[in-house]
Amino acid sequence: MKIKALGLEEIRSVDWNVEKECIQLIDQRLIPFDFKINDYNTTIDVCKAIQTMVVRGAPAIGATAAYGIVVALKEVENYEVSDKKSKLDEKLKQLLATRPTAVDLVNFALETYQTAIKTNFSIEETLLKAELLANEMVKDCTQIGIYGEELINDGDTVLTHCNAGPMATIDKGTALAPIFRANEKGKNVKVLVDETRPRLQGAKITAWELEQEGIDHYIISDSAASFLMSKRQVDKVILGADRCLKDGTVSNKIGTLSLAVNAKYFGIPFYSAFPWTTLDKESKSMEEFEIEYRNEDEIKYITSAKEKILVANLNSKALNPAFDITPAELITGYITPDGILSKEDLMKK
Ligand code: MRU
Repeated sequence: MKIKALGLEEIRSVDWNVEKECIQLIDQRLIPFDFKINDYNTTIDVCKAIQTMVVRGAPAIGATAAYGIVVALKEVENYEVSDKKSKLDEKLKQLLATRPTAVDLVNFALETYQTAIKTNFSIEETLLKAELLANEMVKDCTQIGIYGEELINDGDTVLTHCNAGPMATIDKGTALAPIFRANEKGKNVKVLVDETRPRLQGAKITAWELEQEGIDHYIISDSAASFLMSKRQVDKVILGADRCLKDGTVSNKIGTLSLAVNAKYFGIPFYSAFPWTTLDKESKSMEEFEIEYRNEDEIKYITSAKEKILVANLNSKALNPAFDITPAELITGYITPDGILSKEDLMKK
C-alpha cells in the first residue's frame, strides 16, 4: 500500500524483516493518529499483538500467524529433536487460540506448520512458505479488485463497514480493493464509511486508507446507514468477511447482519468480498464457533492514541459481541479472486 502522508510507496501491514529476523506489524491501534511499526520475535508477543489488535482483519491475522510459526520454530531451534515437535505444537495451539472468528488464522497457521513438519523443522523452508502465502494473499486481493471494480458504476456511492482495506489484508484490501480500482480507472466513486462501534475501525482505519488514495468519503454513524439507504443515497454495500461457509453464510464484524437486512429491504445489492483463505470448506454451520465477546470497556470508553474516555454510565454492564452471522439469502454475491460468485458457485469450491 501507499501511505502518501509518509511518502511510503510500498509497505505491508504484516511483513517479515530479513535482517532483524522478526515479524514487523504496523500498529493498527494507533491509526490515524500515529504511525509505528513494531518488531515481534517471540510467540508470546505475537499472540499478544493479535489479541490486543495491534494487527487485526482476518487475512492480516492469518499472515501474522504464518510468520508466527517461523518465530516459534526459531524458539525451538536448539531443543532436542525429540522435544521439538511437542514444543512447536504448544506454540501452534497458543497462536490458534488468540481469536476465534477469522478462519484465515487457522488456514495460514496450519499450512505453515505442516511445512515445518514436512521439512524437518527447516526455518528457511517454513519462512518461504509463510512468504508464499502472504504473496498469494496480496495477489488474491488484487484479483478481488479487478472483478469487484466491474460492479461499480461511475457516480456510485458504496457503503462499507469496519475495515477490509490494506491494513486488514497485508495489502490491497478486500472490500476496498474494487473501490480503489474503480477510482484508479477514473470512475467517480463516493464511499460511506460506517464508523463501526465499538472500536471504530471504519472511522479510524478505513477513512484513513481512503484518504491515502484520495477517494471521496464520509464517515457515518452506524445507525445512519438504514436512513441513507431509504433515501436512495447508497448504490451498493461492499464489505469483507472473517469466515464464509460453503453455503454462503458469512461471519463478519458486528453490524453486518443489520446492514444486510436493511439492504434487502431497500433492494440495494449487498456483496461480501474475501480471499480463498477466508472460505471455511470444512464446517457445516456457524453454530460450531464461539462468537467473540470482547471486553465491555470497548463499549463504555472511547479511545484515541493516548486517551481513554468514559462515555457511558460507569456502573452499567455492557455486552460486546464482536461478530454476527449473515445468511446467504441476504447476500447478492461474493467478490472472490475467481470472480463474482453465487452461493451455488461457492458450494463447488
Ligand atoms: O475485529 P477485527 O477488526 O479483526 O474484525 C475484522 C474486520 O475488520 C472485519 O470483520 C472485516 O470486514 C473482515 S477482515 C478483512
